Order: sequence, then C-alpha cells, then structure tokens
Amino acid sequence: MAAHTHIGNPQLQRDEAIRSASLAAMTLMLAAQGMGLATCAMSGFDAIALAQEFHLAVTEVPVILVTVGYSTPGNRPQKPRRPMNEVITFA
Ligand SMILES: Cc1cc2nc3c(=O)[nH]c(=O)nc-3n(C[C@H](O)[C@H](O)[C@H](O)COP(=O)(O)O)c2cc1C
Repeated sequence: MAAHTHIGNPQLQRDEAIRSASLAAMTLMLAAQGMGLATCAMSGFDAIALAQEFHLAVTEVPVILVTVGYSTPGNRPQKPRRPMNEVITFA
C-alpha cells in the first residue's frame, strides 16, 4: 500500500521520512535514558552541510540530530512539563 501511495509523491515520502525518523529518534532517546544516559534532540542544524559531511544521497532526508552522553553533576534539571492527565485522555 505504501509503495502504491508514496511512489511519485515526494511530499508524502518526505512526510513519512520525518515521521519514521522522529519515532526512531524517540526510541533511541528512551533507550539511552534507560541506560542512564542523557539526550538532546535538535532540529536547528544546517541540513545541506550535514548531508555533504555524511555523503547523503539526495533521497536521504536529515531529520533530527540527537546528542547522547552522560550528564555532568549538577546539570540543570529538566524544565517543568504539564502533568500527563492534562495532555492525554484515555477512552
Ligand atoms: C524536535 C525538537 C527539536 C529541537 N531542536 C533543538 C535545537 O535545534 N536546538 C536546541 O538547543 N534545542 C532544541 N530542542 C530542545 C531540546 O532538545 C530540549 O528539549 C530542550 O532544551 C528542553 O530540555 P529539557 O527537556 O531538559 O527541559 C529541540 C526539541 C525538539 C523536541
């Protein structure tokens, strides 16, 4: 089905790449967290320079960078988040 709808539709292909890469990035971040590591997602980068540096094909879309490492002692705490019950409803 994906082949049928996505072939010849660059916008849909790009949308799908961003969705898939974002899910992969979140999985990486959760796995890293589970291993005691800290991460930071970044979308503010020079996509053209990154594609050149990593020799990406024109069909490969740089979506998100994720830094992974150990927090330094005294690292600033995570900014406050709204409680889960304010943003998710289970039906
Ligand atoms: C999709 C996405 C892209 C982001 N891009 C950047 C970025 O380019 N530069 C940056 O400094 N922070 C960026 N952030 C914010 C940081 O990843 C991080 O969420 C923010 O600093 C809050 O940190 P905290 O979760 O420890 O409170 C981005 C966050 C998300 C979700």
